[in-house]
Amino acid sequence: MSNESPQSRLARIRNQLEISGQAHLLKHWDRLNDRQRDELLGDIEQINFAALKGLVNDYVLSGKGFRLPTEIRPVEVYPARPGIDLVGKYADALKRGVALIKAGKVAAFTVAGGQGTRLGFDGPKGAFRISPIRQKPLFQLFAEGIRGSNRRYGADVPWYIMTSPQNDRATREFFAENGYFGLRPERVRFFTQGVMPAFGRDGRILLDQPHRVAFSPDGHGGSLLALKRSGCLAEMAAAGVEVISYFQVDNPLVSVVDPLFLGLHAITGSEMSSKVIPKVDDLERVGNFVIGDGRTMVVEYSDLPEELARARDERGNRLYDAGSIAIHAIDRRFVERLTADEATFALPWHRAVKKVPFVNDAGVRVEPAEPNAIKLEAFIFDAIPLAGQPLVLQTVRSEEFSPVKNDRGVDSAETARRDMVLRAAAWLDGAGYPVPRRADGTPDGLYEISPLLALDAGHLREVLLEPPPMVRGGDVYLE
Ligand code: UTP
Repeated sequence: MSNESPQSRLARIRNQLEISGQAHLLKHWDRLNDRQRDELLGDIEQINFAALKGLVNDYVLSGKGFRLPTEIRPVEVYPARPGIDLVGKYADALKRGVALIKAGKVAAFTVAGGQGTRLGFDGPKGAFRISPIRQKPLFQLFAEGIRGSNRRYGADVPWYIMTSPQNDRATREFFAENGYFGLRPERVRFFTQGVMPAFGRDGRILLDQPHRVAFSPDGHGGSLLALKRSGCLAEMAAAGVEVISYFQVDNPLVSVVDPLFLGLHAITGSEMSSKVIPKVDDLERVGNFVIGDGRTMVVEYSDLPEELARARDERGNRLYDAGSIAIHAIDRRFVERLTADEATFALPWHRAVKKVPFVNDAGVRVEPAEPNAIKLEAFIFDAIPLAGQPLVLQTVRSEEFSPVKNDRGVDSAETARRDMVLRAAAWLDGAGYPVPRRADGTPDGLYEISPLLALDAGHLREVLLEPPPMVRGGDVYLE
């Protein structure tokens, strides 16, 4: 298209817009300068017009959304601690996982393209300072997790970070300003995810400015196609990476490359594996792993019928108790297979009604007081039903999951810091150095253990050979 004249480019786009009922996007054309016109056309060219009509009909106007499978049953879950029957398998898995990490066959992968609107932090969420004593940003904790793993396993794990067009530059600058938190810059690979326009309830795409389409990132499910389009998949293949260790930017407790999980994934021949936790209550707002019409899948809490959410087995245990925590091991070859035909690959879209500022037909920017727009996002867990032998491993919430989603209350910075302290204190207790506690049993003081020192409780026991200085109400930071 490079030798297309500006006139024919405009005519082509105008035509496309008319056919698809989006001609209003050029409404303010006459008052734009040349640079703005070019930007607007560039934005419009990013829209997938081939799929647009179907998308608007199915998801914006009618909310086709999720269809509950006809037959739902509980999923089989590998336990957090192996029973006698599984001890050997877990030992083999651990060995295999360590070998994979050591051999450079595992890449860490953080999805960090979200907008973090609930947290309301001005900057990429990974730059949010979270650790209880040193106030390390989330990205630093993950970087230290990688450095700690490199040291422990004699490895050099590459780290892929997916950003969005909105936060890519700020993310890269944050790493550069902080010396990549001690990692070699060439081992940290940023790439940008795709975007999706926001729609008015009438199916019309919204303008953010007279010359800019209101785009937002296309969801963490967009990571699969973004891995392909960015060339990262091909780079991984060339470097011998076989398994992608996927996690979200908002969980400071995550184990960035967990040998047991990665090893189980490998020895069971799973193409996509997931970690789950038991739910705190029947209706906890986490996705539920189930077998739906014969396939392992995640059903969102809002889609799981209440009688299933409350169902019990004959021993009184919750039947649907595998809550999703968005930690996955994904085969590189599986992503290659799914995205082989870029033009046709798509995960289902999830629809959310949100407040999106927009420019109206009169050219006035409106800040809506009520949700006015439909945003469409793809979710990574929708790839699970497409995977061969998907494995589900239970883990312990207090060890691995405390996301920073909200600015206060549940899943906030406050709860994540509390959980970091509780975990550090539990590790110290386990290493034989009981921490001073208050009458209610909570640690008296703040505790923080850098992943550079220890990656789990067992690791701390190995490396901490002397009691750390601990006083009631004091801060204990260990590195
Ligand atoms: P969330 O679902 O919490 O969304 O993302 P969010 O956009 O970060 O936050 P809110 O809903 O606006 O408050 C879960 C993970 O998926 C990533 C996020 O960065 C986070 O790690 N994500 C989400 C993407 O990488 N891209 C997206 O388009 C959406």
